[in-house]
Amino acid sequence: MCGIVGALAQRNVNEILLEGLRRLEYRGYDSAGVCLVDGDSQLQLRKSQGKVADLEARLAAAPAAGQLGIAHTRWATHGAPSDRNAHPHVSGQIALVHNGIIENHQPLRAELRDKGYQFTSDTDTEVVVHLIHSLAGDGRDLLAAVTAATDRLEGAYALGVISADEPETLVCARSGSPLVVGVGIEENFIASDPMALRQVTDRFIFLEEGDVAEISRAGITVRDKQGEEVSRPVHKLDGGHDAADKGRYRHYMQKEIFEQPAVVEATLAGRIGDKSVLSEALGARAHEILPEVQQVQIVACGTSYHAGLVARYWLEDWAGIPCSVEVASEIRYRKTAVRPGTLFVTISQSGETADTLAALRQAKELGYLASMTICNVPNSSLVRESELSLMTEAGPEIGVASTKAFTTQLVALQLFCIALAKVNGLSTEREAELVKALHQLPQLMEQFTGLDQLVQDTSEAFAEKHHALFLGRGVEYPIALEGALKLKEISYIHAEAYPAGELKHGPLALVDADMPVVVVAPNDELLEKLKSNLQEVRARGGQLFVFASPQAGFTSEPGVTVVEVPDAPESLAPILYTVPLQLLSYHVALLKGTDVDQPRNLAKSVTVE
Ligand code: M6R
Repeated sequence: MCGIVGALAQRNVNEILLEGLRRLEYRGYDSAGVCLVDGDSQLQLRKSQGKVADLEARLAAAPAAGQLGIAHTRWATHGAPSDRNAHPHVSGQIALVHNGIIENHQPLRAELRDKGYQFTSDTDTEVVVHLIHSLAGDGRDLLAAVTAATDRLEGAYALGVISADEPETLVCARSGSPLVVGVGIEENFIASDPMALRQVTDRFIFLEEGDVAEISRAGITVRDKQGEEVSRPVHKLDGGHDAADKGRYRHYMQKEIFEQPAVVEATLAGRIGDKSVLSEALGARAHEILPEVQQVQIVACGTSYHAGLVARYWLEDWAGIPCSVEVASEIRYRKTAVRPGTLFVTISQSGETADTLAALRQAKELGYLASMTICNVPNSSLVRESELSLMTEAGPEIGVASTKAFTTQLVALQLFCIALAKVNGLSTEREAELVKALHQLPQLMEQFTGLDQLVQDTSEAFAEKHHALFLGRGVEYPIALEGALKLKEISYIHAEAYPAGELKHGPLALVDADMPVVVVAPNDELLEKLKSNLQEVRARGGQLFVFASPQAGFTSEPGVTVVEVPDAPESLAPILYTVPLQLLSYHVALLKGTDVDQPRNLAKSVTVE
């Protein structure tokens, strides 16, 4: 999704901006651009469809330098990917970059056309730069013009704005899209994600909704949406999270799959004792809130939604607490009936997903008991706006396809479910059994990543396929959904997941010798039911690929490939069986030659609706 970087320093900021863009590449984008104010107070604009490397080539052909600049990676919403739609957009002496969507761009465009402005792109963003220009005129008070313009905007925005007439000022504003100010020494920066600026600073101000900031080399002034000057805290981020390195791996996704034993361990660290989940695991306020919880509403998107679906099985089984799970883009647009005592739980890797954040904000008006987020990014919007937060310790996830974020979400959710079950009568024996299993998880994770070669061999059967079906039963059904999502997003093979018992109600019609059917088959109480469902597939010539431990009693035969996995406690099966499915999609994508880390049309952090 779109990325913003801006800088004001006493040195040429071009390379700072480009490095920032490179660090945001993982988010997914289709064009990039930069605009600098040069020593003659002229705007130097360079833009290019394609990758940051294409922009660099353009800059090599037509160099630009300046001590003030803004840069952007664009993920197309209004208007196709192209040079002319790429940001920054310019009006007179003013240049602007924008993340988000301006919903009232059409009436504003008509109004500005009437005033004589000519549009050179199809974007909603260009409206904003002309609006600011119309309010400022060349060379007059940029801050006042940006502030006045934000009053006219509907929708979501993070803005970075410069004027060649004010080479000592960088103005930025946010509402609905994240933006941080990076604090340096006699130099300051802005970015849509702190990761873009980790090479120049570790101190950040997280702007709040409606804030407008005026940045000079010496200082930062923030005004809130009422126009009052406010003091926002400066957060020092620790130094251990520079993930812009693939190490010995070919792709970030591969690296992140293999990091899972370590990050799962990090997510458990300090949160479980020998036989119990430690009460501090969910934060200081958990002991007040958990006993009041009578129901749980989980809201998330994509892979994080699948984690929520798994948690429902655990919550209802272990805690006896009713749980609903819904995708954020749906729940936010329907009338919901909220029962007293309902905890609202969001799950998100980034903490910035626009739909999830909007659902949380709406939930605050609806009488929920409290809000909690399971999130991977400290200081993200979801963390800041939720009453409780349980951090996953996955470290930055760069590959668009979520892997280690998902398994650490499941670990955090399992801790949450056990903690809630404890206040709802979970026996100490059962808790000890679940915690004992969690202690084994990192080592078992290691064994499951060791299936790499076996899965790679299996992946060859998928390379020429156009469709695949994933089956699971019970708590493994969401794992089948996640396996199908991984395969479709990085290999572009159409994949669907079904609860195996639903096959005969429709999808069985699709099954023939060309349809690989992937089965998640741990040795649990539904195994025999699952086996009957698989007979239905075999009887129609379907090709089965069964992920099962030896104890499950499957054998490979013509039409049935068994990928033998280590035996594992039942409570861990959803977490562990995810790993070979991630490996499968990774190896199929390699065979198909797709862009594994940045699959087409997708973005890492979906900060627009
Ligand atoms: O950052 P979030 O967890 O809120 O993101 C939600 C989805 O966009 C995300 O999980 C997406 O489905 C994955 N990248 C898929 O692998």
